[in-house]
Order: sequence, then structure tokens, then C-alpha cells
Amino acid sequence: VNRSLWYVAMLSGKLALVTGGGSGIGRAVCQVMAREGARVVAADLNEASAKETAALLASAEHVGVPLDVTSEESVAAVVRGVRDRYGAPADCVVNCAGITADSMLKDMSVETFMRVVDVNLKGTFLVTKLTSNAMIEAKVGGSIVNIASIVGKGGNIGQGNYAASKAGVEGFTRTAAKELGRKGIRCNAILPGFIDTPMVAAVPEKVMKLLVPLIVLGRPGRPEEVAELAAFLASDRASYMTGASVEVTGGYGI
Ligand code: CAA
Repeated sequence: VNRSLWYVAMLSGKLALVTGGGSGIGRAVCQVMAREGARVVAADLNEASAKETAALLASAEHVGVPLDVTSEESVAAVVRGVRDRYGAPADCVVNCAGITADSMLKDMSVETFMRVVDVNLKGTFLVTKLTSNAMIEAKVGGSIVNIASIVGKGGNIGQGNYAASKAGVEGFTRTAAKELGRKGIRCNAILPGFIDTPMVAAVPEKVMKLLVPLIVLGRPGRPEEVAELAAFLASDRASYMTGASVEVTGGYGI
């Protein structure tokens, strides 16, 4: 028997922290990571939705916790809480927390611009900083996956704030990869295209009619189609990947 072909769960023994775990891509990431054997901490600004995700995973080893990624105190409290509960820091972190506040440039207020940058970019920075510090302190190594967006690469009408934040996440990810590689910590970005989530459901129908024909596979993606890659990048199977930006777009805009 060729044992190398036997299927082993990708994330058994891993402890995962997923921000934005209460909905959309974040919830699907929690589900796929739990299926692959990780213990999962689903963290979300909306505590009830994080707890719902944990309940879907149907085992007491998974939990849902409140987290405001824009607040250093809140991120620190979650990092402490994980260590207290599990006796170790999360060794897989997936930064999914993100928002849009779409508006044409001519109408975009500073507040609208900064709100999106605060959650998407500053949030990714804070969670990456505090979780990687905990990994370094415990000498465990680890893997961090940041959800950026294809919009950070190509831009998108009405998304000056979001595109800037997501391009920032990519540059930040490559820097974190360079700094943390020597500590055994990998850091990669995923660039999803248009995925069936509450975020994309908010796009006006007339705009979706323009966007869908640009998708080679002819349809928006499903959250689990992004989550499968997140679980892989988080796992040791991606042991030689760091600083990468991987597109999951159904061929949008190629
Ligand atoms: N792509 C192409 N055309 C767009 C567009 C887009 N993303 N957004 C708007 N337009 C077009 C509109 O169809 C419209 O064209 P017409 O004048 O020919 O009708 C024109 O731009 C002006 O748009 P509105 O009439 O809607 O102008 P508004 O000021 O009332 O609203 C807006 C502007 C808030 C940006 C609104 O158009 C909107 O919500 N657009 C969608 C933006 C979008 O694509 N968001 C993606 C969210 S999903 C996501 O972000 C996930 C990810 O990572 C991919």
C-alpha cells in the first residue's frame, strides 16, 4: 500500500484564529479549517454571528468570540483569551475581517475613506502584529493568511478606499513575510474576485450585470472556493509558500 496517498486532515493539531468569522468568506474558512482538523476560534465584531459559526462547527473545541480589529486592546484581549483557553497561541491566523463603503471619488468623505482603511488595513496589521508576537514568544512558528482582493490590483469604480486598503494588505503581507520568515512564520495573501457574500449582495444589480460577463467562469464564486485555498495556505502543505498573492477570481478580468 502506498501510504503517501492516504488522506490525512491538513490541519490536525492546529489552532486557528479567523477574524470576520461570523459571515461570508470568514465563516466558510472556519468550516473548512474545522473539517481539516483544526480547533477554530471564530472572531467577529458581531459576537452573536461568531458564536453561530462556532455552533455550526458542532464541537466544544471551537469557540466564537467578539473582536474589533481596529482596537489594539480588543485584539490583545482575544490573543490572551486564546492562550488562556488552549494553553498555546493560534498557529494559523486568517484575516478575513473587512468592509466596504462604496462611493464615487467625488463624493467620498475622509471619514468614509478612513473607516475602510481602518478595518481592512489597520485591522490586518494589528492582528498580524499581535498574533505573530505570540507565535514568536511561544516559539511555535505558524502561518498567516490575509484576505486582500483582486480590486486591490485592478481597481474598481466606486472603491477608492477599499482598493487602497486591499493593495495595502498585499504590500503589508510581503513585508510581514520577509520579517517573519526567519521565525518560521509564513504570510500569504489571497485575492478573491466577486464571491457570493453579504458584501457582494450589496452591489447594485445594474453593476453586477456589468461585472459578471467579465468573469471567465461566468458566475460569482462561492465562499468555500476561497476557504479551500485559505486552509491550504494555513497548513504545512504550503510549507514553501510565503509572500505570495494568489488570485481566486474565476478568471475575472484576465
Ligand atoms: N463597475 C462598472 N461600472 C460601475 C461600477 C463598477 N464597479 N460601479 C458603478 N458603475 C457605473 C454605474 O453602472 C453607473 O453607470 P451609468 O451612469 O451608465 O448608469 C455609474 O457607474 C454611476 O453609478 P451610480 O449611478 O450607481 O452612481 P452612485 O453615485 O449612485 O453610486 C456607487 C456609486 C456607490 C459606487 C454604486 O454605483 C455602487 O455601489 N457600485 C458598486 C461598486 C462595486 O463594484 N463594489 C464591489 C463590492 S464587492 C467587493 O468589494 C468584494 C471584492 O473584493 C471584489
